[in-house]
This record gives sequence, structure tokens and C-alpha cells, in this order.
Amino acid sequence: MLVALGGADEEDVMDRLWYGGDYNPEQWPSPVWDEDVRLMQRAGVTVATVGVFSWAKLEPADGRFEFDWLDDVLDRLHAGGIRVDLATATASPPPWLVLAHPDVLPVTEDGVRLSVGSRQHYNPSSATYRRYADRLVRAIAERYGEHPALEAWHVNNELGCHVHRDYSDESAAAFRRWLEARYGGVEALNEAWGTAFWSQAYGSFDEVMPPRAAPTFRNPTQLLDFDRFSSDAWLEVYRAEARILRELTPDVPVTTNFMGFFKPIDYWSHAPELDFVSDDHYVDPADPAAAVFAAMTRDLMRSLGSGRPWILMEQSTSAVNWRPRNAAKPPGMHRVLSLQAVARGADGVMQFQWRQSAAGAEKFHSAMLPHAGEDSRIFRETAALGEELATLADLVGTRLTAKVAVLFDWDSWWALEQPATPAQLSYLAIVLRWYRELWRRHVLVDFSRPDGDLSGYAVVIAPATQVLSAGAQENLAGFVRNGGHLVASYQTGVLDERLHVLLGGYLGALRETFGIRIEEFTPPAEPSMSGGPVPALAIEGLAAGRASEWGEIVRTDTAEALATFSGGMLDGLPAITRNRAGDGTAWYVATAPDDLRTVVDAVLEGTGVEAALPHPVDGVEAVRRGDRLFLLNHTDRPVEAAGHRLDAHGAAVVTGG
Ligand code: GAL
Repeated sequence: MLVALGGADEEDVMDRLWYGGDYNPEQWPSPVWDEDVRLMQRAGVTVATVGVFSWAKLEPADGRFEFDWLDDVLDRLHAGGIRVDLATATASPPPWLVLAHPDVLPVTEDGVRLSVGSRQHYNPSSATYRRYADRLVRAIAERYGEHPALEAWHVNNELGCHVHRDYSDESAAAFRRWLEARYGGVEALNEAWGTAFWSQAYGSFDEVMPPRAAPTFRNPTQLLDFDRFSSDAWLEVYRAEARILRELTPDVPVTTNFMGFFKPIDYWSHAPELDFVSDDHYVDPADPAAAVFAAMTRDLMRSLGSGRPWILMEQSTSAVNWRPRNAAKPPGMHRVLSLQAVARGADGVMQFQWRQSAAGAEKFHSAMLPHAGEDSRIFRETAALGEELATLADLVGTRLTAKVAVLFDWDSWWALEQPATPAQLSYLAIVLRWYRELWRRHVLVDFSRPDGDLSGYAVVIAPATQVLSAGAQENLAGFVRNGGHLVASYQTGVLDERLHVLLGGYLGALRETFGIRIEEFTPPAEPSMSGGPVPALAIEGLAAGRASEWGEIVRTDTAEALATFSGGMLDGLPAITRNRAGDGTAWYVATAPDDLRTVVDAVLEGTGVEAALPHPVDGVEAVRRGDRLFLLNHTDRPVEAAGHRLDAHGAAVVTGG
């Protein structure tokens, strides 16, 4: 892992890929620890993440710290040549703490205070939690800041994972402070929230509540602001810990593990505060689309770090334990998905966890060293992967360049999936539909925020980017003026950042860019309970055939219609339009065509966007990083790609290529 840090010397920089996992030695008697180090070496492990859930063992009673066992663990790992990603252990407060201070426990929107006995049971805005967590972080950093095995700090764990938002009185007070800082006065809040509607006007900030359980639809902007506030509250948890670590060990990189496309947290605001991005990703081996979604997540992680290498911090070697049915990964699949992460910019792949637990809630979750021990398929695959990753060490630090960007915007995600909309849509499903078309063409994609720097891209896709501020509208309009190709799907540019409608045909300043106005939304009906026939949408022209999910009345101004709706009330109206504006083009797609292939072909034509392979091969992914071409077969049958035979769930990493 190469981390651009002020004080890091060349020799401090790790020049191997991270490979290892969460290591929870407290679950085992100390004689097992020797075997752990021996087997880690056999498996090619380079890094272990230690201490994630160790608070109760490190501080068994208020202020009584017991570090001897952790000294021993870190020393053994160091002696074995294994680096340590040391957690701050703040993820799960011990029972003594929350029993003495129940105010630490989170409260749900229905007013239920959650209990101890699981994990991650704390409210991010709790001052008591903060006080205890700060003391622990400081104690750990003071003790281990100079330890020779220390590679990085791992703040907390999966911030916001189980408790997305807290609705306690303490959070209500923090929410009010956050609103005051955003709006200045309550009149501005009333205006932004549109409280003239339904008699919601507030006389002072003291009257404002978190959006707790209420009779019917809550104020949409209140919901959105609470989503933003809650994401920021988790950022404050990260910041508080990172501040202490940076004060005591300014040269040690700091990260926290993200959870991919995780709705509760706007990672665009969190990522710049991490020295390197890291991510936890658990594919469902039973889901045929899992590999595409995994690729999309890897691309988001690289993009969050502005193209810098990132770490896949957790994945499972085989089954997890938290789905209703937990499919095992067939032989090869774990390797292919690990190589996929490296191909898409990861400088390491880690797993949860090193040794499979014998007790506790995760005993049926797979690990690098399974219940069966070293004489097992999983351990053999673990060791083989370690050996293979060692051969890719020269990729450490190398970056990838994409010419296509897909917009990803948490405000739009939160807004689009609120209740009281024309239809309940899935933001991720819409993004994935577009992403998949680029993926199958082996075209590398970055993600960007709507107001991000788009100057390096030839093509930008805006899938259902519902919320666009004036600045973002101008950013996209400028991208097209300067020669870019912009594609927007339905539900782009409908609302501003206060969730006020962009009146007069939606799209705001982009109306001119697209050369259209939108008059009305007409999402098709879902099958009714009576099972009666549902009229399907159909389109003609570019992308002829069935369409689904969305229809609308589009009026062209300067745009040309490349496809039209056929039949029903939309008959003959534009379904796909293209407009030339300045030096670029702006495409608008008013529905979800079953087949997007011809649309994406037409968009890419003449843009100079390159693919890692010239043609799609069913189920095969191709990515170039550095001088390697990664050919990944996600199917359960052998295939031929670029002159290489790939086994079922097999891969080839070709130098040059
Ligand atoms: C993650 C978590 C790990 C482990 C894993 C199981 O959410 O960080 O501690 O629980 O899931 O899949």
C-alpha cells in the first residue's frame, strides 16, 4: 500500500499487496496464537486487522486497561513478519459501560431504546460514548503508536452499519445545532422545508424534531436533512478518533471500512478524511448479477479516493451467515473476485475473518482458516491466493484512467426513494442498469458527484440524478458545452437541493442543454392484485422493443427524437432524444428500455472511449491495470477470451496482453 503521507519514509511504505483478515485472537486460548502465525505465513498473509471488537477485553472495567495480551499478539505477528492494521476497538462498548450510562444506547424512530447483547449499540451523538471512546483511542495510540508491526489505524468499524440514524433527545439537540449552522435562522428553514404546507411552520429551532414516527408522510426536506445530519454524525465519530490518532502518530495512515453502496452514509463527504479508502463487500454467490455489482462497488471505492489505491478490507472466503440462505462460493469464485478488486485499483484484499469462530453469532460465517482446519478446500484456496497475490506486488500504487463517468449522488438516492413520489424506484437498480452496459463492453468507469470535476471524461451518465443544485446543473451544462457527451435518464434534474421542484418543465438550466421540456410523469402500472393484464410500454427507433418502469411526456425543443413510445397515451412521443449543445451532445432517455445495448453503442460511437477488449464475451470481465490484463470468468463454464482459455470461475492475469 502506498499512502501519500507527509512524513512517511520510503522504507516505511509497504510494497506488498495487503492480504489477510480480521484476526480475533481473544476468541482463542493463547497456544492457538502460535499456530495462527505459522498458518498465516503458510497462507502468504501480509497484514492482520486486530482488535476490532476488543473493547471489553482491553478495558474490562471502567478505566482499567489490560494490554498485556495485545502486546503479546502484536509481538508474535511482528516476529512472523506480519503487519498490523490496528483497530481502535471502539465499535462495541462493553456491557459495564452502557449499563452505567444507558444514554449511550441508540433510540429508534419509534422511541425504542436498543439494548446491550449484540454489537455496535451506541448513538453517534452521545457525549458519554465520545468521552469513553476518546479515552480508549488515546490509550491504544499511546501504547502502540511506535510498535514496529503497526501499518495503519483502523477507526471503529463500519460506521453506521446497524444503527443508521439515532432519534434520541441527544440527537435531536445535535440535529437542531446542525440545522442552525445550515440555515442560520428558522425562517430560512421554513422556506427550505416548505413548511407552509400542512401547517408545519416552526417558530424556533427548539420546536424542530428528528423525523420520528408520525401519522403519515413526514416533511421530505426534514427527512433529507436528517439523512444528511446522520451521515455527518457518523463522520464526527470518525473525526474524533482520527484527530487523536493524528495528534499522537502523525505518520501512521488512518482508514475506516466503508460498506460499498451504503445508503445511510454519503461517502463523498467521508472519503477525503481518510488516508486511504477501504471497503467491505460480501457478494451473494447465489446472485447472478453479483460480479457486476461487485465491479461497480470497486469502481466507486477507487473514485472515492480520487483514483488512489484502496483496500478491500473485508470479504468472505465462502458463505456468510446473515442471509436467509447462505450459499457457499464455488471453487475459484473467491479468487476471481479478489483479482477483480486488484484489477480495479485495490492494493490489497482482506477477509473477515482469519480463523472461523467456534462460538458466537458468526460461527457459521466462513473464514480463511475454516472449522475443518488446514486440510480443507478453503485453506488450500486461501494459501494459493496468497501465493498469487505475491506475484502482483509490482502493481502496488498503480492507478487506472477512465474516460467514462457515472454520476452517483447520495442526495438523489435519499430523495428518489422517499415515499410520496410518482413511483417507488430503486436508485441502485437504475445505476446498475447503465453500469452493466459499460461493464460488459470492458469499459472502465469512474463515479463522480454531479458537481465534481468532469473535465477528464468524454462521456458522463446521469442515472436518475433527481437532485441537482444550480451549481451542479451548470457543471453538467458546461461539460456538454466543452464537448462532452452527457446521457441522463428519467428523474434527472427534477428537484433542487431543498427538494423544491425545478418548475417549467424540470431540468432547470439543463433544459437548454437537452433541448427538451418534460410535461408529465406516467410510470406504468404494476400488476394488480386481480392479476389483470398490464399494458406494457413499447418503444420504436433506437432501442426498439419493450420498456419498463417509467414513461413521461417529453416535448422536444431543439432535440431530435431517436426513439418514440408506441401505443397507449404516449404513442408517438419521444422516448430517447439527442441534442447538440456547444461542442457536445446531450442524450435524454425517458424510460427503461429492456435492451440498452443500441443506446450505449450509439453514445460511445466516435467518443474515443477505449475498452480493455474489443468485444463483449458473455460473463467475462476484462480490466487493464498497469501492464496486466485481467481476464475474469464469472460463469460456471469454461470460456475462451482474448485467446486464453478460462476455467469455470477461472481467471488469467496476462502481462502485456
Ligand atoms: C461485517 C463486519 C464484520 C463481520 C462481517 C460478517 O459487517 O464488519 O465484523 O460481522 O460483516 O460478514
